[in-house]
Amino acid sequence: MLSWSTVIAAGLAVTGTQGTPVELAERATPTVYLAGDSTMAKGSGAYTGWGDYLSKYVTVPVVNKAIGGRSARSYTNEGRFAEIERLLKRDDIVVIEFGHNDGGSPNSASDNGRSDCPGTGNEVCKSGKTGETVYTFNRYVETAARMFVAKGARVIVSSQTPNNLFEGGTFNPGVPRFVGYAALAAKNVGNGASFVDHFRAVANMFLKLGSARTNALYPSDHTHTNAAGADQVAQAFVQAVSRDLNGTTPLKPYLRSPVPVVF
Ligand SMILES: *[C@@H]1O[C@H](CO)[C@@H](O)[C@H](O)[C@H]1NC(C)=O
Repeated sequence: MLSWSTVIAAGLAVTGTQGTPVELAERATPTVYLAGDSTMAKGSGAYTGWGDYLSKYVTVPVVNKAIGGRSARSYTNEGRFAEIERLLKRDDIVVIEFGHNDGGSPNSASDNGRSDCPGTGNEVCKSGKTGETVYTFNRYVETAARMFVAKGARVIVSSQTPNNLFEGGTFNPGVPRFVGYAALAAKNVGNGASFVDHFRAVANMFLKLGSARTNALYPSDHTHTNAAGADQVAQAFVQAVSRDLNGTTPLKPYLRSPVPVVF
C-alpha cells in the first residue's frame, strides 16, 4: 500500500478521506521566456539589458528572446512571438516588455517599421512607407498574450524600463504612455495574464539611489545601462514580483531568497 505522500509525489489525482481533493504534486519546472527590446536583451558594456540577470534571482530556467531595436509591432512581424509560442509548454511563463521603440508615427514616409498605430484598441494605420496595415501596441501585445494563454502558458505584461530619470541632475517623474498601455493589455487579456509595473519599480529604485549613482549606470546614453545597471533593473523587477506591486504573478513562487530590496 502506497502512503498518501507517495501517491501525491507521483502526481496522481487523489481524493482525501473526507472526499476533498488533495493538492497535486507541483508540476515540472516552468521555463520563463522573455520578449522585449535592447533594454532586456543580452548586450555588453554600456548596452547591457536586464534579461540575462533575471536567472540570478529565480529558481527556474530563463530563455531571453529579447532583441535590440524591436517594438511590439516589429517583434510580431518578424514572427518572434510565434517562435516563442512554438516553444511553450503548459504553465511556462512569458514576460512581454516593450515601449522604447513603439513611439513615432507609422503614417510617415520614413516609417521605421517599429512605430505602432496610436490608440489602445482596434485602430489601424497604414505605413506611409510600405502600405502595411499597422495596429496599436495593445493589439500586438494582447494578440501575443492570448496566443500564449491559449497554449496553457501564463503571461506577465511588464511596463518598459524608464530612461535615466536623473538625466541633467534633477528627477523627471514623467511616465511614457506605454506604461499604462501595458497595464491595460494585461487587464484586457484577463485570465492567464498579469501586470508588473517595472517602470515604477525602477523609478522608485532610482529615487532611492539618487542622481549620482543613477547617472553612473548610464555611461553612454539615457536609455541603455551598463552591466551594473542591468543587474539592478532585474532586481527591481524581482522585488516588484515579490511585493505583488501590481497584482500577483505566476513568477512569485520561483524567486530565490533572499529577494533583493532595491526600492
Ligand atoms: C503599480 O502599483 C504602484 C504601487 O501601488 C502604483 O504606484 C503604480 O501606479 C501602479 N502602476 C500602474 C500602471 O497602475
